[in-house]
Amino acid sequence: MMQNDNDPLLLSRRSVIKAGTAFLGTGLAAGLSKASYNVLRRNLQESGKVVLITGGAGYIGSHACVELMQEGYDLVVLDNLCNSSIESIKRAELLTGKTINIEIGDIRDSRCLEKLFTRYPVETVIHFAGLKAVGESVSRPLEYYNNNVFGSTVLFEAMKKARVNKIVFSSSATVYGQQKHMPILETAPLSHTNPYGHTKLMIEEMLGYIARAEAKSGRPWSVAMLRYFNPVGAHKSGVIGENPKGAPNNLMPYITQVAVGLRPYLNVYTGYQTDDGSGVRDYIHVVDLAKGHVKAIEKLQSVSGVHVWNLGVGKGFSTYQVIEVFERCNKIKIPVELQGQRVGDISQCFANVDKAERELGWKAELDLDDMVRDAWNWQKMNPNGY
Ligand code: NAD
Ligand code: UFG
Repeated sequence: MMQNDNDPLLLSRRSVIKAGTAFLGTGLAAGLSKASYNVLRRNLQESGKVVLITGGAGYIGSHACVELMQEGYDLVVLDNLCNSSIESIKRAELLTGKTINIEIGDIRDSRCLEKLFTRYPVETVIHFAGLKAVGESVSRPLEYYNNNVFGSTVLFEAMKKARVNKIVFSSSATVYGQQKHMPILETAPLSHTNPYGHTKLMIEEMLGYIARAEAKSGRPWSVAMLRYFNPVGAHKSGVIGENPKGAPNNLMPYITQVAVGLRPYLNVYTGYQTDDGSGVRDYIHVVDLAKGHVKAIEKLQSVSGVHVWNLGVGKGFSTYQVIEVFERCNKIKIPVELQGQRVGDISQCFANVDKAERELGWKAELDLDDMVRDAWNWQKMNPNGY
């Protein structure tokens, strides 16, 4: 539920957290004893409202920042800006009228993480940081294992050291590989078809083992693995959105770049075993997806162990249908060229989302019309991105 920002209780708790956080940063240097420092840190941590967002400057991360701030969370973003710009964070601040603590750094840098956890009383981590281009992962696999898997290991070690035991991990429908049965349940068998997907699966498994090992400790881990289907769209203000570097790999940003005149036509991959021959996906509005993170954080307050949730709409749309909806809603014709199958593409993929609704009380509210309108609004307002 949206909190009232003028609620005196909320305001006073916020200022206590803020003052405490600032004090933590200088406390040790100012001669605070280690024991008092630890007590202060623990109390602030238990306020439950300080969240570390790795990769928070990215597409999904920046939208999550907005939703979390609107729900009263205090945020620390750690991002090395390898695929984003600080502008997205500035705009998230603009949208909410709140400030975000920004640390430019790398999740593979253990000293940076140690300093960060010393400075801020982080209660929960949302781990978005990672490389995500499937094709690139095939040609440069080592970069993907290093950044995603090694990076996650360093992050989890630093969390353990700092006694931070709640994490929401950005997983992906890619861990389902090619499935026979649709819609896909969380219990479906897992596999991978490229290094990117392999890194997601490895990180999921790593978290599973950590949670099992920590279950018997005094501080069991609470882990939410969110398997995103196909996030698209942008904040309805058009102030933040997807900002791919170079030619987009994904359908929606490619369509909007054609619509704005940056590219002459869209390649439509065909030849799949679907009704119209184009691929079928479960497209989910990025704002709905961001709200799913708020629900997951709330849930982690009351459960420990590992929990997996699909985040999608639960319906499949073909590429032709997406183009048709885009053209109808935005009144723009998208020129296309038909191609054969894209290497590694699966025919169809859509989610069963009952578990998220049942356990998180979360359900996507926006439909494909909203997704294409908001994607186009963002592109129109920012023809060259940030
Ligand atoms: P994005 O590239 O826009 O955001 C990722 C952010 O992480 C970027 O800001 C980048 O600079 C940062 N980053 C990367 N490596 C880092 C490192 N070593 N240290 C610090 N920061 C680092 O991607 P996104 O679309 O917002 O995706 C976020 C997460 O969701 C990723 O983990 C991705 O794999 C996952 N995911 C995305 C999709 C999708 O279609 N967008 C689908 C499923 C899962
Ligand atoms: N497509 C086109 N032309 C394009 C781009 C895509 O026809 O220029 C089609 C594809 O064939 C596919 C559909 O549009 O049928 C969606 O393709 P995307 O590349 O947008 O998305 P994918 O489902 O292939 O993959 C995305 C992310 C993965 C993630 C997966 C599941 O890129 O990282 O969703 O979450 F794993």
